[in-house]
Amino acid sequence: MVGSPPFMRGFSMREELLRLSCTIISLLAMVAIVLPFCASSVLAADIEDQTYITWSQDHVKMLDAEKAIQITLDSASGSGFASNQKFLYGSISMEIKLMAGDSAGTVTAYYLSSEINDEFDFEFLGNVSGQPYLLQTNVYSNGTSGREHRVNLWFDPAADYHTYSFLWNKYHTVFFADSIPIRIFANNQALGVPYISRPMRVYASLWNGEYWATRFGQDKINWTHAPFVASFRNFTVDACIWQGQDSECSASTSSNLWWEKTGYQALSSEQASMFETVQNEYTVYDYCKDVKRYPIQPAECSHEV
Ligand SMILES: *[C@@H]1O[C@H](CO)[C@@H](O)[C@H](O)[C@H]1NC(C)=O
Repeated sequence: MVGSPPFMRGFSMREELLRLSCTIISLLAMVAIVLPFCASSVLAADIEDQTYITWSQDHVKMLDAEKAIQITLDSASGSGFASNQKFLYGSISMEIKLMAGDSAGTVTAYYLSSEINDEFDFEFLGNVSGQPYLLQTNVYSNGTSGREHRVNLWFDPAADYHTYSFLWNKYHTVFFADSIPIRIFANNQALGVPYISRPMRVYASLWNGEYWATRFGQDKINWTHAPFVASFRNFTVDACIWQGQDSECSASTSSNLWWEKTGYQALSSEQASMFETVQNEYTVYDYCKDVKRYPIQPAECSHEV
């Protein structure tokens, strides 16, 4: 399971560019040049300053001088945290390291949610010792979900931190694992499919999903292996911060923001080929192909990319 697949090539360059643009934006902010149309922001500060605990204070711990958060699940409780801010469009990423060894029945979730009806989920489904995690993604739009997609990862997500991110703009939402696109939810409003256009907070949690998570609920949590822990760090946001009803996030001028520009409205050809590899070689479940469950294919399935 460990190693780099061939489609990793050429990625550091893009990462560098991304980092450079973030640096430039930070520098602009530092010299207090505030562009009226630009409500974006980079938050790469201590994770503790950017988040609050949503669930079970005594199961959450700061690590590495407040740079990382560790959340815990034991027989008493799971735990979780969320971003202080709400965002509407942009780029959001987090490094996550999962628990090694027996994690059967646990679910580590990292998601964006509007609290009403809209959600983008990464859900890491644990497994018994030696067996691989599954990464499930799902999308709720205007209350409709049932859009599960599952991949086997090409690395061990418990051996080290890996980066999981969302690129969310008016054209599509792309889920990335280490900058490899693994899932796309396109804006198919033209087909009558609601798109996600409400402000959302970033959430993370670790919880007991033993009734469904591992081999569809066959492997339960072994509490003698508790506490289960997941660690999060480098929470990085370059997104429009929601500031209430008159927020500029959804204004037409937001087309000046980098994530709405041409290069981000569709995958590059390189990304498209990586995405295809993920679909062909790593995907183990795709609701769009589940004809038993959906005899009539959901409208967005014919226009996923
Ligand atoms: C757990 O391991 C089994 C056996 O390798 C595999 O079939 C399953 O997809 C893995 N993941 C989950 C979440 O069940």
